[in-house]
Amino acid sequence: MLPSKVTFSMQQSTSHLQIHPDELTSGTRFVRACLRRPVDRTPVWFLRQAGRYMPEYQAVRKHHSLLEICQTPALAAEVTITAAEKLDVDAAIIFADLLLPLTPMGLDFEFQAGEGPVVHQPLRTAEDIARLRTDRVSDLAYVAEAIEKVSAHFKDRIGIIGFCGAPFTLASYMVEGGNSRNYIETKKIMYRQPAVWRTLMDKLVKVLCGYVSQQVEAGADVIQIFDSWAGVLSVEDYRDFVLPHTKLLVREVQSLGVPVIYFGVETGGLLPLMRETGADVLGLDWRVPLGDTWRALDYSCAIQGNLDPITLFAEPDLIRTRVKHILQQAKGRPGHIFNLGHGIVPGTPVENVQYVVRCVRELSLEVKHG
Ligand code: CP3
Repeated sequence: MLPSKVTFSMQQSTSHLQIHPDELTSGTRFVRACLRRPVDRTPVWFLRQAGRYMPEYQAVRKHHSLLEICQTPALAAEVTITAAEKLDVDAAIIFADLLLPLTPMGLDFEFQAGEGPVVHQPLRTAEDIARLRTDRVSDLAYVAEAIEKVSAHFKDRIGIIGFCGAPFTLASYMVEGGNSRNYIETKKIMYRQPAVWRTLMDKLVKVLCGYVSQQVEAGADVIQIFDSWAGVLSVEDYRDFVLPHTKLLVREVQSLGVPVIYFGVETGGLLPLMRETGADVLGLDWRVPLGDTWRALDYSCAIQGNLDPITLFAEPDLIRTRVKHILQQAKGRPGHIFNLGHGIVPGTPVENVQYVVRCVRELSLEVKHG
């Protein structure tokens, strides 16, 4: 527990910001950390915190498909709220899926058990891309409606995270038709038809800006942009074909008045360029050492991460040691949000996720004041 009256001062700037800790809710703690302002303790939430590992989600899923849950605001809100309350985290990410914007753009897809998403007629030609629609973003209003419900439930108690896919990662699903190993079709368009690639990126950015602005209007405090598969790109390809478009999206989202978290997997070599998007927070996967990575970025942005999600299958002692190691690397510096280095996987014991929350609460105070 904190002493009842503690004040915090900005570490890196001359301005002193006095905050009474009683005034910090989980929501303000989370948003302040995204902006690298000092907080009393490290905020924590989990990628994929409302998924199949959770019995309450499985119970809803028994009666509804994944898309039905996403498209029914009452169900999406219920699943979001249940997970955040059960885990007692500082932020709730809205239950939705990366691929939802494909439908109003004119691409059908489904989730096939064991296979992940399947897009029935993937984009292959300039004509396919020319046909994509950008004028039906309002069809996605069900996500904003779910956010409104979550926001009405939590008020300002915890942070509410809206999200979308990044243009590259979404394009990779649209072109490959699903998960891919080598992303050959996507890279073929990038390399051989750069103008067509730009059209695809422009259309995606347009749709995503509209989609995210609905989410912010509905009450999202922060937007996370998932560039899950950006790690398949070389530094040069990321710089030439992806960075300008992602930067535009980040800037547009920030102009709505909310911080942006930008996350990708196996992005160790790309992080300096990902930083150039201007995102407020970079999400790290578990392969990179948090302390060295943050230092290499000159602490110029906030950092989210980065416990290996599979650590959640270990015994409590090891979990605690790993959590502590991450907090020690962050050294209580303003701008660390504790999370996993990728999503929680099915089969993860819920009590271990809850245990991580308790460890972060306790140990972040120890690291900060100890
Ligand atoms: O609380 C949460 O985080 C859950 C909400 C959520 C889902 N998808 C629901 C979902 C979020 C944040 C996503 C994002 C998402 N979707 C990403 C980016 C996140 C990441 O992990 O990098 C990606 C790449 C997708 C696309 C997608 N959707 C895939 C690859 C899969 C199959 C995954 C698998 O393990 O089978 C999905 C399906 C999906 N989306 C599930 C959930 C809970 C599991 C399937 C189900 O419940 O039927």
